[in-house]
Amino acid sequence: MAPRSQPAAVAVPLLDLSGQWQAIRDDALAAITRVCDSQRFILGPEVDALESDLASRLEVASAIGVSSGTDALLVALMALGVGPGDEVITSTYSFFATAGSIVRAGARPVLVDIDPVSYNLDPPAVAAAVTSKTRAIMPVHLYGQCAEMDAILAIAEDAGVPVIEDAAQAIGSRYRGRQAGSLGLCGAFSFFPSKNLGAFGDAGLVTTSDDAFADRVRLLRTHGAERQYHHRLVGGNFRIDALQAAVLRVKVPHLAAWSEARRRNADRYRVLFREAGLDARVTLPVEGDGQYHIYNQFVIRVPQRDRVKAILASHQVATAVYYPLPFHLQECFASLGYREGAFPHAEAAARETLALPIFGELTDAQLAHVVWAIGAALDEVGA
Ligand SMILES: Cc1ncc(COP(=O)(O)O)c(C=O)c1O
Repeated sequence: MAPRSQPAAVAVPLLDLSGQWQAIRDDALAAITRVCDSQRFILGPEVDALESDLASRLEVASAIGVSSGTDALLVALMALGVGPGDEVITSTYSFFATAGSIVRAGARPVLVDIDPVSYNLDPPAVAAAVTSKTRAIMPVHLYGQCAEMDAILAIAEDAGVPVIEDAAQAIGSRYRGRQAGSLGLCGAFSFFPSKNLGAFGDAGLVTTSDDAFADRVRLLRTHGAERQYHHRLVGGNFRIDALQAAVLRVKVPHLAAWSEARRRNADRYRVLFREAGLDARVTLPVEGDGQYHIYNQFVIRVPQRDRVKAILASHQVATAVYYPLPFHLQECFASLGYREGAFPHAEAAARETLALPIFGELTDAQLAHVVWAIGAALDEVGA
């Protein structure tokens, strides 16, 4: 049963970055002014400094700033030479860019189901999907927790193909002590503003410790030009803005503390759900063995999810569904030939999962209100 009395009702947004902004305001404005004063807006010293700082923090030889997480995935595939006739194995349950980038590279996404507890790629399903056309495996570290990388790397090694980590949601997360994005051939990160490390617009990063691969990514980032107007490869404009790099440099030193605050909120939710007797009525996220989850999202499963979500909204608790439709059921991928029922774990997750507010500045009163409202909603739907 839900707690009888409603804690002081407080509105709870899904994400509110204004507290973070106040903490960095002076430094961020100074960084923006510095770039404006320098009039160097494309690549240059701000980008170089961000890249070397992130390379050392993420424990890779190279970190290459790019225009978005989406472009990080695309440029990684291009650098590998993935194209028509190739297959890339990935999860059917992720943000669109994961599969979208594979199609944009000209290859076929070979979709597989997820593990129902972690929501990440299911290694046996990956092994079963390998064919002679497989050119890469692209696990997603969904919600901020790494996929089962030991098993996935072993499958990739057997198949003789590289692993591209979609680490867009997982900066600073660790798998058996190692940084997300340092485990496979490369990692792709997003600095979309809602990520644990968010820019003031779109930006992303490719990480790798393979020097030849890093050189290709750098080349492709600037239309494949080694010298201006002399193009060795056909690339794109995949550059990160100097302004975004300068803002990110201000934020990077705070990242570990911000992710710790999210982890504390996750722990607090666990206690509150248990105390309210709700832990048997909702499924809470599980941090796997050897994992350091950064909780870009705190995702629970509830029966009658859509009704529960609407009732939560009536109690001023904002939530989100990541994601309501797996890739294999998306209209734009109909030509891949998948049918409903093909990936039951992903389809169930799409029906039942709900992301709760988890940002670091949430107050105890807000966390308590979320849990109270979930109890009230479950009572109301009779679940
Ligand atoms: C798993 C995943 N991959 C890729 C992306 C794409 O990143 P961006 O929005 O920076 O293009 C995102 C962004 O949300 C994501 O969550």
